[in-house]
Amino acid sequence: MAFILIALLLLPAAARAHEVPDGAAPYEKSRRCSACHPAVYKEWQTSMHSMSSTHKDPAHSAMFGAFLDDMKAAGKDGGYNCVTCHMPMADNIKALMEGTERPNAELWKEDEGIGCAFCHRVEEVVEGKDRNLFKINKDGSYVASGMAQRAPHGVGANPLFTGGQMCMGCHSHLENQSGVAICSMKEEGQGNCLSCHMESKEGPPSIESEKETHASHEMGGGHSLAMLAKAVKVNAAVKKTQGVSIVEIEVTNMASHAFPSTMPMRMAWLKLTGFDAAKNAVFANYKETPLEDKNALFMKAFKGAKDEIGVPAWKAEAVAFDTRLKGSEMRKFSYPIDNDAVKYVTVEVIYRLFSPGALKRYPLLKKAVDADKNIAIYKKEFTIQ
Ligand code: HEC
Ligand code: HEC
Ligand code: HEC
Ligand code: HEC
Ligand code: HEC
Repeated sequence: MAFILIALLLLPAAARAHEVPDGAAPYEKSRRCSACHPAVYKEWQTSMHSMSSTHKDPAHSAMFGAFLDDMKAAGKDGGYNCVTCHMPMADNIKALMEGTERPNAELWKEDEGIGCAFCHRVEEVVEGKDRNLFKINKDGSYVASGMAQRAPHGVGANPLFTGGQMCMGCHSHLENQSGVAICSMKEEGQGNCLSCHMESKEGPPSIESEKETHASHEMGGGHSLAMLAKAVKVNAAVKKTQGVSIVEIEVTNMASHAFPSTMPMRMAWLKLTGFDAAKNAVFANYKETPLEDKNALFMKAFKGAKDEIGVPAWKAEAVAFDTRLKGSEMRKFSYPIDNDAVKYVTVEVIYRLFSPGALKRYPLLKKAVDADKNIAIYKKEFTIQ
């Protein structure tokens, strides 16, 4: 018994796969669903879930490549341990994780990323220390929150689909080899994921359905301007006193989880610029980089074994700082401004998918859409009388 326990502890914690029962019905291609669920299929196609594989997401493949390079440099074999979340339908999850096999673009189960059949066959979320996994149903019926009446295929009902608990098989948490939390939605985010990420859209969910709306499968986040526009609420006012004006700003995170969430490469910050009467910029809350105004920077960074800040997730030994807005947090800012010089101010909240530092270190990241863009998710101008 003790021997078995020790043997289990020595196994790399990562080499666990989703539980697919022996003799389970094979996964069906998402394309098979399109004729009868056209609206849902179209939305899924534009979502990051359909582009999550190394074969389709240039950002993901760039970071996997960087991870492999680092492992090689350290004389270790690196496996594709991203597979459970980024390509969950793969048949060879364990071999990919152990590195004895490599991702193969010819296989549709890899290429599709998170297919319809994967999510809709979830039976259970299997909790784990470094990450959660799923148990998949055996009979191949498609499960949602209610029992559809007119389906030509097996259906089932599972309460995991009501509030988005099923999302937590992948979005709950991830720890690296050193036990550092790379992401931890389970601690940072409560609330019903579906209420914000699967809003009702026009059009029936299925042919023959009597419903006029369906739950959107776009599931936008950092890649969706519409979603980013809902992320923060900003109140700003200019208070005039003698000689100086005070710009008072309140930024409220409208999401129930951290902002930016939860992918550690994201960053956002508050930018305040003051202009003179001729609209020349004469004041800013930072000069070169938003890192200068730490309180106004919303970002998480890791530190490595030598306390170096900004290491990638796989080298993280600890969190160096985490100044992101917590779920529903309101943060206040107050900047004194010289009345005589400054006649206008602009208040902006800028979001980036990847930090400039990460793009410099991993140039292949630039292949991803909008990788190097400062996205103003809020902007307003105020006049100082
Ligand atoms: C030949 C047409 C057809 C195909 C192909 C098909 N479905 Fe369906 N599906 C339906 C119909 C019809 C319903 C029931 C609609 C109703 O009763 O309102 C349904 C219901 C569902 C439901 C339950 C929805 C609810 O409202 O409870 C899910 C989930 C589902 N399908 C998933 C899939 C997936 C995933 C695929 C592809 C792997 C797929 N379907 C392929 C026709 C189809
Ligand atoms: C436990 C599940 C899980 C594992 C394992 C995982 N990821 Fe992810 N990854 C996610 C989720 C969920 C997101 C979506 C962003 C978020 O959570 O904020 C994501 C997003 C990303 C992104 C951002 C993609 C983009 O287009 O913006 C990159 C890059 C990435 N992951 C790389 C990796 C790499 C490389 C590995 C393996 C070394 C890996 N991930 C392992 C769940 C996972
Ligand atoms: C009250 C609304 C709300 C709820 C509830 C909510 N989210 Fe979000 N979520 C947002 C907004 C707004 C964004 C866009 C801002 C951002 O990326 O942080 C977002 C972004 C995300 C992202 C994108 C991260 C990235 O880097 O691209 C993921 C992943 C995510 N949410 C997952 C979840 C999950 C899982 C749940 C349920 C536990 C959930 N959300 C609940 C509003 C919500
Ligand atoms: C990331 C997981 C995920 C993926 C991928 C996914 N779904 Fe869903 N789907 C859900 C959840 C969660 C619901 C909401 C369940 C509910 O309310 O019953 C849902 C709802 C549905 C419904 C019922 C919608 C309604 O409003 O009645 C249908 C039909 C459906 N999905 C089909 C599909 C098809 C077809 C695909 C692929 C094109 C797909 N799903 C991909 C998670 C997913
Ligand atoms: C099988 C694992 C898995 C499940 C289940 C899953 N996701 Fe994801 N999700 C991912 C991965 C991986 C990504 C990142 C893909 C990429 O960018 O390469 C992602 C990305 C996202 C994003 C960010 C999109 C963007 O614009 O960057 C949101 C929001 C999201 N998921 C919400 C959900 C919600 C809501 C559910 C439950 C209905 C869910 N996910 C279920 C794995 C999963």
